[in-house]
Amino acid sequence: MAKGPWSAIETHAVQGLAALFAAEPDRLSRLTVEVAGLYFDWSKTHLDAALLGHFETLAEAMKFDAAREALFAGAVVNPSENRAATHVAERGSGAPDAVALASARRQCTRALVDAIEAGAFDDVTAILHIGIGGSVLGPALLVDALGRNGARLEVRFLSNIDGEAFDAAVNGLDPASTLVVVASKTFTTGETLANMAAALEWLAEAGGADPHGRLIAVTATPEAAVAAGIDETRVLLFDDGVGGRYSLWSAVGVSAALALGWDAFEELLEGAAEMDRHFRFSEAGANAPLLAACADQLYVQALGCQTRAVFAYDERLRLLPPYLQQLEMESNGKSATADGKPLGRASAAVTWGGTGTDAQHAVFQLLHQGRVTVPVEFVAVRDNDDAQDSEHHRLLLLNAFAQGAALMQGRASDDAQRNYPGNRPSATILIERLDARSLGALIAFYEHRTFANAVLLGINPFDQFGVELGKDIARAIGEGEAQGLLDASTRALIKRAGI
Ligand code: F6P
Repeated sequence: MAKGPWSAIETHAVQGLAALFAAEPDRLSRLTVEVAGLYFDWSKTHLDAALLGHFETLAEAMKFDAAREALFAGAVVNPSENRAATHVAERGSGAPDAVALASARRQCTRALVDAIEAGAFDDVTAILHIGIGGSVLGPALLVDALGRNGARLEVRFLSNIDGEAFDAAVNGLDPASTLVVVASKTFTTGETLANMAAALEWLAEAGGADPHGRLIAVTATPEAAVAAGIDETRVLLFDDGVGGRYSLWSAVGVSAALALGWDAFEELLEGAAEMDRHFRFSEAGANAPLLAACADQLYVQALGCQTRAVFAYDERLRLLPPYLQQLEMESNGKSATADGKPLGRASAAVTWGGTGTDAQHAVFQLLHQGRVTVPVEFVAVRDNDDAQDSEHHRLLLLNAFAQGAALMQGRASDDAQRNYPGNRPSATILIERLDARSLGALIAFYEHRTFANAVLLGINPFDQFGVELGKDIARAIGEGEAQGLLDASTRALIKRAGI
């Protein structure tokens, strides 16, 4: 752990935002970056020239350049599982062999998409996409963001084990014209397997002659999918090095490709590849993901912020906050370094958020006047695609910008209840137009920011052992083996629920 640079960052006399704007006439140009039709404005954060210098020193100490190269070269960057992280290869940015493999597998996905569109499964009007966590959040975001004006077919997403979720997901669907996509990297996830079984029953009850024949598996563990009765011709593969939360670029995106069309899927990958090039080749001061990570670390380490909030000022991006919650919290919610030592400092902030303007009327009170500082991120789109008077969109955007200004400027009052302290940080991402390309770039930005944060901290963002204990205990309770091991409170709850 590099102590020197951290102590320079943590002891730096952070100036107020107004003072920073006054003292740094070139602040806007230095803290804004344009890439792939996305404008990143980090000028309303407390980063200043000296801090950026300290972060550059930290990046050097943490061998940031080598770590980034290792990611793109397909070297082992996930040491606890002894593997590379090959999601960048899915969009053509990784090591040549990984890119070639990903491209060959993409052709298989494309062939299946073409076959479905050509009628190989008769008339298909809907996809029931079953998966959880990284096997559903990405595709759901893509379809919700891009499929509003003319999706080619309906896609329903089903993740929760709760039967209510199943009922809602299939409500109104015709089993005879629905294909079921079961996405699971491991093909062992309890919720997904239970929902797959329920879907098979639902197909069978409707009189389908071959329910298994309506299933498509997407997995890195094909033998498990085949063992579950899915014919290998309908098993789409992705690489073991593609983590669930980084997997939407792979065959996991097949439902989105079916809904949005193959060309849109390719454009998504191209947008991500453009962000890959930016992250890989831009110098530190002009590198959007790295700049954002520096601000993230400033707020967590030096200013003690335990959360950060993302507000999508665009309904089409309403699923971005939950997507980011998994990406950021499952990746960087760690207490140990990549070489297995205690981290000794906080890692990731809690990511939360919502949509604007709704959130202004619900949670912004705390952001403006609460005692905790929450770095806020606004994500907005310049052009709208809705059918309403453009005044709606103008109001939406001006509200986003007004909130950022209000958080920063504050308004002094002698009345403590009406006093706005101001000096509250925010960042803004303004997307020119929301399409597959810009969405791909946006999501890749967040992936690289997450990676940059992990490198600065010296942690491994690609494993997630923290999720295992709860699964183990649930399994033990399910198998009636946990009684003796459980506390009185949990035992009483089990008894009361009669399970
Ligand atoms: O339990 C967490 C997790 O393993 C996530 O990392 C993953 O995205 C999700 O569950 C689903 O896993 P799988 O794709 O293997 O079903």
